[in-house]
Amino acid sequence: MSVLMSLPAAGAPPPDPSGPPARASVDPDVFRRVVGHFAAGVTVVSTELDGVDHAMTASAFTSVSLDPLLVLVCVDKEARFHDAVLASGVWGVSILSASGRRAADWFATKGRPLVGQLDQFPYHHGATTNAPLLDGALAWLECRNWAVYDGGDHDIVVGEVLDAGLDDRDAAPLIYFRGRYGQLT
Ligand SMILES: Cc1cc2nc3c(=O)[nH]c(=O)nc-3n(C[C@H](O)[C@H](O)[C@H](O)COP(=O)(O)O)c2cc1C
Repeated sequence: MSVLMSLPAAGAPPPDPSGPPARASVDPDVFRRVVGHFAAGVTVVSTELDGVDHAMTASAFTSVSLDPLLVLVCVDKEARFHDAVLASGVWGVSILSASGRRAADWFATKGRPLVGQLDQFPYHHGATTNAPLLDGALAWLECRNWAVYDGGDHDIVVGEVLDAGLDDRDAAPLIYFRGRYGQLT
């Protein structure tokens, strides 16, 4: 498959910023397949709100800044985690190892029960935010909301890192690539 893009000719004036926005011409399915070629790690982001633990698989996670310490996750506005994290103002990140595939599948399953959804996985509540953190994670962070930016059908939730830690096992990470899980070989 090839994807053609039209670029302005060299020396052409830049587009008029006051003019109408260019209409997106990339088919959404092509877009999904293209961005699926960006191999990503897999996390479970989580929060606790009014005594209920929320958790969701997320690969749109990245570090942002060292000073201050910031990370971000892009959260679907329709996801239950979305309203929960905006209300609680704090969240946890469990970075999954290759053995976390079952957790990644489960926390991406639509319609799973909200209450008790973590029960089948060993976890603990973070000391700083009370967000649930998976015991088998490679590494974890606890964050508080720093800023929330509109990102179309997602919100970009930037978190200030309050606490973080590593597992000492030298385990392989879980990777998501072309719509499939894999691991580094
Ligand atoms: C590998 C993988 C990565 C995902 N990454 C994200 C993500 O970064 N942001 C997001 O909002 N949803 C992401 N999703 C989808 C959510 O995990 C899924 O829609 C989940 O069921 C939402 O939680 P809810 O059912 O409690 O609303 C991802 C799913 C998979 C399988």
